[in-house]
Amino acid sequence: MSRKKIALIGGGQIGGVLAQLAALRQLGDVVLFDIVQDMPVGKTLDIAEASRIDGFDSHLKGTSDYKDIENADIIIVTAGLPRKPGMSRDDLLTTNAAIIKSVAENVKQYAPNAICIIISNPLDAMVTLFKKVTGFPANRVMGQSGVLDSSRFSSFIAWELGVSVKDVNAMVLGGHGDTMVPLVRYANVNGIPAMEMIEKKYNDATKAKEVMTKIVDRTKQAGGEVVKLLKTGSAFYSPATAAIQMAEAILNDEKRLLPVCALLNGEYGCNGYYVGVPAILGANGVEGIFEVTLNNEEKALMDNSVKAVTNLVADMERLGL
Ligand code: APR
Repeated sequence: MSRKKIALIGGGQIGGVLAQLAALRQLGDVVLFDIVQDMPVGKTLDIAEASRIDGFDSHLKGTSDYKDIENADIIIVTAGLPRKPGMSRDDLLTTNAAIIKSVAENVKQYAPNAICIIISNPLDAMVTLFKKVTGFPANRVMGQSGVLDSSRFSSFIAWELGVSVKDVNAMVLGGHGDTMVPLVRYANVNGIPAMEMIEKKYNDATKAKEVMTKIVDRTKQAGGEVVKLLKTGSAFYSPATAAIQMAEAILNDEKRLLPVCALLNGEYGCNGYYVGVPAILGANGVEGIFEVTLNNEEKALMDNSVKAVTNLVADMERLGL
């Protein structure tokens, strides 16, 4: 039986970490593609030269030739530019949409059976475009956003409570932007509601609410917090780790229930748009979507987030993309 093939389109900051993590976890052989010549060859060589130390046998290949992604099982797309000073959201949308369009055309040609995970921003629009251009079925095209946003939310809860993050389960739904919806009511520490634990910590329900509001706000702005501190570029370790968890769930047919940017077909009152929702990930990609029961307040937040996604997609269509 041959090894699985993981093709990474975009060999920048996130692409490099993806390649290293895929090798370390021995998910399969790795192809790192970038339009910049030589750089992906150098990066994969650098990672591969640590294989004796790390003890992995995965083959790594850097390339600028799409032919090398032929018959990949999984494709992870990070091609695209981060926003630069003076660039409007529309500018970023236009630039990255052109890149995603060409990536999608090549993936369709060279890896027509691949399951694809998109990371490039603006995420919800880029996944929509990738699906439109490839025409792949919805189960094989998804975006990474919720796994990372939920990890950030869980980390902040763990740090507040002084408990291991391994015991925290907290999920973020909705679009990958300011309107994302951290589900406070469902957040728990090994089954104990996180809010109950924060209330006990302070013995004050009002103070607990304030603390949780700060955690929710920090979660929504976590990407921006990192951008500000890095000075150049955006988060790359955590987005790569999140996408690798999704790829691992698919390659090992784990049936994980993870927050995934998936195409909705009536769920959450939305049809035909990509939104972050709990989904089962297995060998066939997105194998099911779970509709969480939301109260009125949560439903309003989710509706607002879906509206932001539909506006983003409308902007993209208005630009003729
Ligand atoms: N095909 C393939 N790769 C491309 C193309 C293209 N048409 N156009 C640009 N690239 C490559 C760049 O050469 C660069 O190496 O995409 C890579 C992007 O890497 P970085 O600029 O380091 O960006 P990164 O931090 O990896 O983020 C990538 O993910 O989270 C999002 O907002 C982020 O959209 C950005 C993307």
